[in-house]
Amino acid sequence: MSSRCFLSVLLLFLLPTLGVLSSPPNIVVILADDLGWADVGWNNPGIHTPTLDRMAREGVILNQSYVQSTCSPSRAAFMSGRYPYHMGMQHRVIMAGWKQYLPDDQPILPEVLHKMGYATHAIGKWHLGYCAWRYTPTYRGFQSFYGFYEALEDYYNHTGHQDAYDFRDNDQVDRTAIGHYSTHLFANRATRIINEHDVTQPLFLYLSFQAVHGPLQVPQWYVDTYCSHVPASDSKRRLKCGMIAAMDEAVANVTDVLHQRGLLNNTFLLFFSDNGGPVNMGGSNWPLRGSKTTLWEGGTRSPSFVSAPGLLHRTGYTYQEMIHVSDWFPTLVEAAADGNDTARDIPTNIDGVSQWRNLLAGSSPGPRTEFVYNFDDLFNNSAIRQGPYKLVHHHPGNPDGWFAPSEMKDATTVNLTSPTGHPEYMLFNLLQDPLEKTDVKDVEQEVFQRLKARMAQYRQSMVPAVFPGYTEASTPSKYFNNVWSPGWC
Ligand SMILES: *[C@@H]1O[C@H](CO)[C@@H](O)[C@H](O)[C@H]1NC(C)=O
Ligand SMILES: *[C@@H]1O[C@H](CO)[C@@H](O)[C@H](O)[C@H]1NC(C)=O
Ligand SMILES: *[C@@H]1O[C@H](CO)[C@@H](O)[C@H](O)[C@H]1NC(C)=O
Ligand SMILES: *[C@@H]1O[C@H](CO)[C@@H](O)[C@H](O)[C@H]1NC(C)=O
Ligand SMILES: *[C@@H]1O[C@H](CO)[C@@H](O)[C@H](O)[C@H]1NC(C)=O
Ligand SMILES: *[C@@H]1O[C@H](CO)[C@@H](O)[C@H](O)[C@H]1NC(C)=O
Repeated sequence: MSSRCFLSVLLLFLLPTLGVLSSPPNIVVILADDLGWADVGWNNPGIHTPTLDRMAREGVILNQSYVQSTCSPSRAAFMSGRYPYHMGMQHRVIMAGWKQYLPDDQPILPEVLHKMGYATHAIGKWHLGYCAWRYTPTYRGFQSFYGFYEALEDYYNHTGHQDAYDFRDNDQVDRTAIGHYSTHLFANRATRIINEHDVTQPLFLYLSFQAVHGPLQVPQWYVDTYCSHVPASDSKRRLKCGMIAAMDEAVANVTDVLHQRGLLNNTFLLFFSDNGGPVNMGGSNWPLRGSKTTLWEGGTRSPSFVSAPGLLHRTGYTYQEMIHVSDWFPTLVEAAADGNDTARDIPTNIDGVSQWRNLLAGSSPGPRTEFVYNFDDLFNNSAIRQGPYKLVHHHPGNPDGWFAPSEMKDATTVNLTSPTGHPEYMLFNLLQDPLEKTDVKDVEQEVFQRLKARMAQYRQSMVPAVFPGYTEASTPSKYFNNVWSPGWC
């Protein structure tokens, strides 16, 4: 064999593997809590998010990125690739002291990525169960965890329900966090992890901010510096604005370090919010209808983008295809396994579909043409989407109006009241009517019947919502030195 011929044969063998061996992308997921459609600068210039805006505009804005309407269900779908109504997680969030958790009957995202060779780190809010150690982050595929298990705690003293403490470094209670604002703590830990990361290994960083969920707390400096244009009479909105500005600064710090370490090039960064903004807590989903906890677009359509300058073939545009939060599991695993199908070892019964090929190429149509917003067998409401149509069964939830943020000058003149009342079914054409103003079921009878049948079909696979009530054995002050802790289920 001539040396030239030998070289080509060698290349022939090497080429397919070269793509694989050129390290899998780092995956950085930044999850905001309760951040509404109009709570980001790219949808509302009255909000100070220069870093997120730049990344969104230079990356790919996801204009139809759907989530569940509350925290735990969204996170459950993200981690597992399954609809919450297939796991009993469709009704509200996991409550403090309740025996509820993301089922561990099949592997979730960090477990799969870790098996594929990733270093896996979780920072911030978990809210997917902690009644036993096996449901906590470091037993579910994360090598490290820095944050809190529960919800609704003080940003500085880190005590939540029953005035019990909830902050950990891996599985140890960490009291050094006391007195420090959580957005700063989480940004610092993220930058430390990135600085210490062995760059020969791919990184999966799940940065799940406490911000901008209530309680409304932020160092006054952020409000004074970035939010003096928000009417002082709306103190909630002012605080929310400051909290968002602080979170934007945190994202800047984290991405700066990714850049300094030369990792940004080969990083797929996803930013999204777990649900819409709560309009009674300073959030705004304007011009979308409704609020957090509702099935309206304002509760379920998440301000989202991906940024991956060195990976995506097309950037600087708005991706219009439908994405459901369950899609990220197969999407991120496919990104990690690019070029190596055997590495894609994920459960076959998931509901998510991979958006990777479309995001990579910037192509349409996308792989998803319909999805389930939810089936809640305790609220007894549900909604599905098919093509441009959305069918809602029973009241999608309150507040159900259109709530403009107070920094918008015309806010009061455009606050519409509900035009239709709430018949048993409502049908909207979201392409023509993204603000859900006109129920078209009477004029679109055929579509209505089709979606009703589809809804009934989807409903058949529902498992009953888990809603167990409080377990006395969880009580922090009695059994756990006043710290929310595992060990009672
Ligand atoms: C933490 O701060 C909250 C106010 O946000 C207060 O109600 C609570 O008592 C404080 N807890 C501790 C342990 O300092
Ligand atoms: C970002 O980094 C700067 C400079 O180190 C620091 O002053 C600031 O507090 C950090 N912001 C956050 C949100 O961590
Ligand atoms: C593909 O993935 C499998 C399973 O993770 C692994 O064993 C194999 O070495 C990978 N192949 C290449 C070429 O990297
Ligand atoms: C739930 O919806 C079904 C179907 O319309 C109805 O028959 C039932 O009475 C409702 N139950 C409650 C508790 O609202
Ligand atoms: C919108 O209008 C309703 C009904 O008039 C009112 O109760 C509500 O406070 C208004 N909301 C805002 C944000 O202005
Ligand atoms: C995003 O969706 C909204 C609501 O459907 C629409 O009004 C807007 O034009 C879309 N944005 C872009 C850039 O296409």
